[in-house]
Amino acid sequence: MSFFSDVERELVVRGRAEIADGIVAIDLAPSNGRPLPRWTPGSHIDLVLGPGLERPYSLCSDPSDTTTWRVAVLRDDAGRGGSLAAHALAEGEVVRARGPRSTFSFPEDARGRVVFVAGGIGITPILPMVRSAAAAGVDWSLDYAVRTRTALPFADELRRHGDRVRLHVSDEGGRLDVAAVVADAGASPVWACGPARLLDALASAAGPATRLHVEPFVAGELAEPVRAEPFEVELLSTGEVLEVPPDRSILEVLEGHGVLAVSSCREGTCGTCETVVVEGEVDHRDRVLTPHERETSPVMMVCVSRAACDRLVLDV
Ligand code: FES
Repeated sequence: MSFFSDVERELVVRGRAEIADGIVAIDLAPSNGRPLPRWTPGSHIDLVLGPGLERPYSLCSDPSDTTTWRVAVLRDDAGRGGSLAAHALAEGEVVRARGPRSTFSFPEDARGRVVFVAGGIGITPILPMVRSAAAAGVDWSLDYAVRTRTALPFADELRRHGDRVRLHVSDEGGRLDVAAVVADAGASPVWACGPARLLDALASAAGPATRLHVEPFVAGELAEPVRAEPFEVELLSTGEVLEVPPDRSILEVLEGHGVLAVSSCREGTCGTCETVVVEGEVDHRDRVLTPHERETSPVMMVCVSRAACDRLVLDV
């Protein structure tokens, strides 16, 4: 995670433009005129759009541009207000932001063949990866699924890459054959971002040799927790034991007891609240950790994940 993950800064909206149906691109510059940190393709920033309204958005500009960051936001009228607040930002308005942060970092020294898959607004973290792969002379391809051509952002840029970009427009009968993409990728890495159903289809199609890197842009439907009963959380630093009732998250309980806990999306998609688990079995409910990471890394996202046992000991 970047050194800048928790740095909060004021940014000014330098420009905004509708780049597709329901999608606005917002250019943000530092209010103090000082250079912005560079970032790696796949990084996001957290925009603080109001009290309790902090949302992660992937950066889709040039990682080496230290004057301006660009995000693209899909308006979601059925959402919880983050995208509407972002769409309402006007030129000249100041907005606070944290990051950049990355849980989905594309290696700048990528070699060989790379397969990209995107769905809808999930193109935003993938686009800087595509540019990086193209600049490095990597053999890459992008399969991009959109609902309609009017909802297609960055059309001109994508068109310039010719046959390397395969568009699948559903209202024209286009269908992304996920199984074929995964089979064709073989042991080449697959980098994907999109709605949960696309990423679930990729995970289902993946075999033991598949090197799948995914980032969802919305939280999927959460399954029922493993335990319906309360459980306990022991804080390693103080030995204090807190009870987590079924209707509250570990994060909420920590905050309620004045424990400093950093968070952003609060829905298991950004990785900000990652916490080390010293003891106990976790009911992982986030969409950040891969199945392999869940088995091998002693961490959990405390905003959504819970205990699958009576007590967890956390490095808090
Ligand atoms: S706050 Fe985003 S994963 Fe927990």
